[in-house]
Amino acid sequence: MSLALQITDLSKTYDTNTVALRGVSLEVEQGAFFGLLGPNGAGKSTLIQIVTGLVNKSSGQVVVNGDDIDTNPSKAKTHVGVVPQEFNFPIFDRVYDIVLHQAGYYGIPLGKARENAETYIKELGLWDKRDEQARMLSGGMKRRLMIARALVHEPDILFLDEPTAGVDIEIRRSMWQFVRKINEEKNKTIILTTHYLEEAEALCRELAIIKDGRIIRQGTVKELLSRLERDSIILDLATELSSDVQNRLQAQGFEVRDGTTLYISFAREESSITAIIETLKEEGVTVSGVRNETNKLEELFVSLINEN
Ligand SMILES: Nc1ncnc2c1ncn2[C@@H]1O[C@H](COP(=O)(O)OP(=O)(O)OP(=O)(O)O)[C@@H](O)[C@H]1O
Ligand SMILES: [Mg+2]
Repeated sequence: MSLALQITDLSKTYDTNTVALRGVSLEVEQGAFFGLLGPNGAGKSTLIQIVTGLVNKSSGQVVVNGDDIDTNPSKAKTHVGVVPQEFNFPIFDRVYDIVLHQAGYYGIPLGKARENAETYIKELGLWDKRDEQARMLSGGMKRRLMIARALVHEPDILFLDEPTAGVDIEIRRSMWQFVRKINEEKNKTIILTTHYLEEAEALCRELAIIKDGRIIRQGTVKELLSRLERDSIILDLATELSSDVQNRLQAQGFEVRDGTTLYISFAREESSITAIIETLKEEGVTVSGVRNETNKLEELFVSLINEN
């Protein structure tokens, strides 16, 4: 399999002396759906901006579809499209012109540029809005405009930097569908950063978790989840707890949500759901149901971020 992206020992220190990346190495295969997760300030956007040529790296090597960004910068740029975290189009320009001009920027001849602009504006459901100024679009439409713009030169790799931040559920789902489709049907490599772990779990096959400019974990979603060391569960009870029992359970680490709901978080090495149900039985408490507190990936993420 050939690589869409090969990053070796990448570091970045901004002029302000902020160290954003500390020796990041990363390989993404062509056709992958890859997620980059990490808390605010971890270095995700910096990494994307270096790969797409918007920020200069301090050291390390970046190869995009076989083209090194140092020795072959303009070729490397043609391979990638980016949907940045912040809106960055001229707001008084028409939707159509914003997409068309981007094609021009990549040197696509006018006829083909017009054709592609139409194709992608339509695919993103903005054709009705093509003559409007970008400032007239809703937030979700603006995001879709940035996706159309990122695709107009038909790159193989699409970077999406928090594409669904501030987007409502319905639009989020339709954006998911769209990026899944271009990944599956057009074999585009998708590299996505997100704060929504549910989004990473739903879309990505592989993940890297980045913190303080370092990759602290990497693997398939499945592998990462299997390393989850803690479980958090909610227990629904058959009967209301007496205050006596409530106090005793609280002393053992249970959180009483209301008279008939308990919450507990435990290390897998130390306990299990069966053992917990057994403990409750000894207190005369019958469990009628067990649920997961949070999304699994979210638990993993939180535990990794805290332990590293
Ligand atoms: N242009 C800049 N000049 C100076 N420092 C910067 C610049 N851009 C980012 N930084 C700093 O680099 C670090 C990494 O920032 P970056 O934007 O890459 O993080 P991020 O992972 O994308 O965070 P978020 O999830 O908040 O978008 C932060 O400490 C940030 O303050
Ligand atoms: Mg960012």
